[in-house]
Formats: sequence, structure tokens, C-alpha cells
Amino acid sequence: MALLPILTIPDPRLRVISTPVERIDAEIHRLLDDMLETMYEAPGIGLAAVQVGVAKRIVVIDIAKRKDDAEPPAPIFLLNPQIVWACEELSTYNEGCLSVPEYFEDVQRPARVRVRHLSREGETIEFDAEGLLATVVQHELDHLEGGLFIDHLSRLKRERVVKKFTKAARLDARAAEHATENADA
Ligand code: NI
Repeated sequence: MALLPILTIPDPRLRVISTPVERIDAEIHRLLDDMLETMYEAPGIGLAAVQVGVAKRIVVIDIAKRKDDAEPPAPIFLLNPQIVWACEELSTYNEGCLSVPEYFEDVQRPARVRVRHLSREGETIEFDAEGLLATVVQHELDHLEGGLFIDHLSRLKRERVVKKFTKAARLDARAAEHATENADA
């Protein structure tokens, strides 16, 4: 297994629409294992393949309380997931995202959803999610459409956070450039 670098905004690759998985082979299994390890290490509770630069409809989730081994790991692998039903009632969660580090905002989404997906073994599975799991599933499925949770915020809030990250990325790029110049000298 290997840790994969996680893309952060404003990386345009986060806005790519992911394509369906057509064949579940060893390469996909390796990606699932690497994504899970990367998510645990971050640490996070959900990760979409597009966040590690692979624009395929793949998501890993684990909402078990893993701090201090409070609960055993309970990973969920979603291949080609779809929301086939959502209730009308909304619930609010303070969301974050590994691609928008250390930024949290309240987002409203349907409180319960039904999800259909393929398992690691290629079986079609359907399950109902509520509470935190419903939120995480919807957050991750947004990623597959090139979406981010900040798209649910007011334009003002969204522009503010994008600007902050764009500025930070520019400073990082400049620092890297200087490091290279110094190494060359
Ligand atoms: Ni996210």
C-alpha cells in the first residue's frame, strides 16, 4: 500500500467529472487500498479518487470513531455510486474536506438517502444512509461531478476561501521555485 498525494483547491483536476469504473481488476483494488490508507493517514472519513488525481467514480468512507481505537475500522468502498432516493427533510453538518484543509462550514443536505453501488467484488449493493453517513456519501458523490462542499456556500464565502487557497498555492509555488534556484546555484 502507498500514500497518495491529495489535491487541494484551486487545483483544476478537482473539477473534472469522473468516469465510471468499467472493469474491477487488480489495479482498482490497489487504488482502493491506497485511497483507504491515504484517508486514514490524513486523517479523514471520506475520500474520492478524483482527490488523488484519478478521475474514476470511486469513493472510500469510514465513519467509525477510530481515535484511540474507540471503534474497529469499518471501511466502505463505493464504485460507480448513485443516489437513487433522497428524503425531503434536510439536516445540517459542519463539513470539511481534505481538499480544502482546515476549513469548515455548515452545509444542508437531505437527511436520508439510498445509495446504489458496486462493491469491491463487483456486486450491486443498495443501502440506506442517515446522519453523518448520509452527509459523507453526498459530499463524496459531489466530488465525482467535479463538485466541492464549498459550492453549497454563499458566493461571498466561497470566493473568500478560494482566494485564500489560491494565494497560499502561489506562495508555495514561489517558495519551490526559489528552492530550485538555490539548489542550482
Ligand atoms: Ni471532500
